[in-house]
Amino acid sequence: MDFFFIQMSDPQFGMFSRLSGMDDEQIQHFRNENGWNILSAPKTAGFAQESALYEKAIGAANRLNPAFVIISGDMVEDRSDPGQLAELRRITAQLNPDIPLHWAPGNWDVGNTPTPETLEQYRENFGDDYYAFQHAGSSFIVLNTSVGFDDSQTPGEWDRQMAFLGKSLIEARNRASAHIVVILHHPLFLQDPNEADSWGAMPKEKRTSLLELFEAHAVSAVFSGHLHKCHHVNYKGIQMVTTGALGYPLGQEPSGFRIVKVSGDKIEHKYYGLDQIPEPEELTLNLNQ
Ligand SMILES: [Fe+2]
Repeated sequence: MDFFFIQMSDPQFGMFSRLSGMDDEQIQHFRNENGWNILSAPKTAGFAQESALYEKAIGAANRLNPAFVIISGDMVEDRSDPGQLAELRRITAQLNPDIPLHWAPGNWDVGNTPTPETLEQYRENFGDDYYAFQHAGSSFIVLNTSVGFDDSQTPGEWDRQMAFLGKSLIEARNRASAHIVVILHHPLFLQDPNEADSWGAMPKEKRTSLLELFEAHAVSAVFSGHLHKCHHVNYKGIQMVTTGALGYPLGQEPSGFRIVKVSGDKIEHKYYGLDQIPEPEELTLNLNQ
């Protein structure tokens, strides 16, 4: 059965103000060192820009009426700031309650080196940090990649998560799922599955075991965020798709979200800037990258 869902990523309340007020030299530095497209902007405080973008995205989701919405991490910059979290909640509550919302944790949500405390805080605020769900004959698995990125302070967490993943993949196959789709915050790799470890992707050791499992269980697609730019690679027939930011964009695409159409034999998707979101009647059934 065909359906579509929306993937939003990295609303990251507070990032516009953190990156505001830079001079040309600083902006050039980030461009050269990180490939980040920092916008020249006067110094600001707060998170008014993130609020406006997220409200627009939630309004668009209400009009489009997807099967569900996934937000793949980095909800706020400062998880100890109750103001950022309250604003995220205020706008999230505007989503039509008939549309399920699934969160996946990002590194800003649980820390670059998660601890038992940051995981507990996340679970209190957002629910399970890794879980699975089904929709219309397809299986979805959400993982906490930040634990995989650095598990030095959370012994046992990654092993438990891998055991859960293995079990969930077998269950998904036993159900004869039309598709198995995995949702992550960190991409598994950027260009080459054997590339060196970097800030932008899962470390090689963890990446390799995930890729082996995904290949063995014929995962259809992996959707991630974290880069604040769109990116797409293929791994042995598995679509590895990174979605640009709903918040601060670091690439060429404006802030936006991805619409993913799931049909029996394929998964198609397209990223839309928030000013280019189609109306429900315009939503083409032939989405290209
Ligand atoms: Fe991130």
